[in-house]
Amino acid sequence: MSKNLKLGIFGFGVVGQGLYHVLEETKGIKAEILKICVKNKHKKRTLPMRYFTYSKEDILNNPEVDVVLELIDDPVAAYEIVKAALKSGKAVVTANKKMVADHMTELFELQRKYNVPLLYEGSCCASIPIIRNLEEYYDNDLLSAVEGIFNGSTNYILTKVFSEQKTFDEALLEAQELGYAESDPSLDVEGYDAKYKLCIILTHAFGLFVNPEEVINYGIQHISAFDIKIARERGYKIKLVAKSRKIENKVVAMVIPQFVSQKSQLYKVEREFNGVIVEGAFSEHQFFMGKGAGGYPTGSAVLSDISALTYKYKYEYKKTKQDSGLQLSTDIVIKIYLRFDHSVSIDRSLFDQILEEYKALENQYIIGEINFTKLVESNLLTNNNVSVILLEHEEED
Ligand SMILES: NC(=O)c1ccc[n+]([C@@H]2O[C@H](COP(=O)([O-])OP(=O)(O)OC[C@H]3O[C@@H](n4cnc5c(N)ncnc54)[C@H](OP(=O)(O)O)[C@@H]3O)[C@@H](O)[C@H]2O)c1
Repeated sequence: MSKNLKLGIFGFGVVGQGLYHVLEETKGIKAEILKICVKNKHKKRTLPMRYFTYSKEDILNNPEVDVVLELIDDPVAAYEIVKAALKSGKAVVTANKKMVADHMTELFELQRKYNVPLLYEGSCCASIPIIRNLEEYYDNDLLSAVEGIFNGSTNYILTKVFSEQKTFDEALLEAQELGYAESDPSLDVEGYDAKYKLCIILTHAFGLFVNPEEVINYGIQHISAFDIKIARERGYKIKLVAKSRKIENKVVAMVIPQFVSQKSQLYKVEREFNGVIVEGAFSEHQFFMGKGAGGYPTGSAVLSDISALTYKYKYEYKKTKQDSGLQLSTDIVIKIYLRFDHSVSIDRSLFDQILEEYKALENQYIIGEINFTKLVESNLLTNNNVSVILLEHEEED
């Protein structure tokens, strides 16, 4: 495609403005902005007003616009915009993980039906090119696991709490001021944001179309000063980890805090950085690290998608065609640290094996092996007086 791509942008917040600057600095890209649609008529803008509109039709019904960039923070409105754009034959780039994860099946069908591409590299781990790698490089069924730190905001909070002894609230405020947090920070803190990314990755890694409600997300909101003390004493950091692993014909997926030792590549992933470990049957481990939040890192992923459109790139969803019969499952034995207070009584028979127990007046904990299905069904994950942190089997050595 030799002509200039004509862009219509929805949203001019952290990512929209980041993309604008990245685009300005990238002289080689054949793309120009025609219009930017925003919401708030009273907000001061950093570009001349001729760029802006408050009416989505100015972009969606403009025959000159061939690419829609959807960069707004409202996933419901975003889906309507993306659907309308695809139906009118416009290519779409989005960074909206919730919208993509919630509607993956419909978005897949729309792309097929209208023969238009939808790209969303910026939606998963911002600057890390994980989706295109899963599609193009790991395009066979030898992939066994994808896991890592997928949320920059919670990683920033955990870094500040661990290394600078900041309180949780101070660290969250900083993450918000720096533009790393979602407009609704509970999406980050409770592990939803990481889960939406994991669901997108499940499609490109294992060919699964997953309703996000089927995947368990256990966030960092239960982590206490006591848990952090235990982690420090044992030489661990705590990281919010999104995990997916193929075991025979099952794929187990979850978002959960994990004690991470110095031996893990995730140990050094700090602040707003993300880290993704990909494991293959013969390739073993590869590790990707990069900024997982912020306007420029996300803007650069959006720019890479725009650039891919100039050579007519589209996702082929290769794994979905492999008919592998894989099913989502929670059937896996995991090793956990379970901290609770005197108000909670724990049925010890839930555990396959108890490895360690600690009892004091305020805090008690058990370290043991448990089937994840039993843990989910026990309702301990919804109890505010309980904290569960994953231990990798080898992390204990
Ligand atoms: N921030 C990050 O680090 C990051 C990283 C990766 C992905 N993302 C994703 O990128 C998207 C945008 O995030 P952000 O951080 O840039 O959000 P943001 O800073 O809150 O900006 C949101 C923008 O969307 C506009 N908007 C909201 N509803 C609209 C509507 N119905 N029509 C037109 N414009 C609308 C707002 O308009 P006004 O300016 O008029 O308020 C604003 O310009 C989200 O899906 C987020 O999950 C963000």
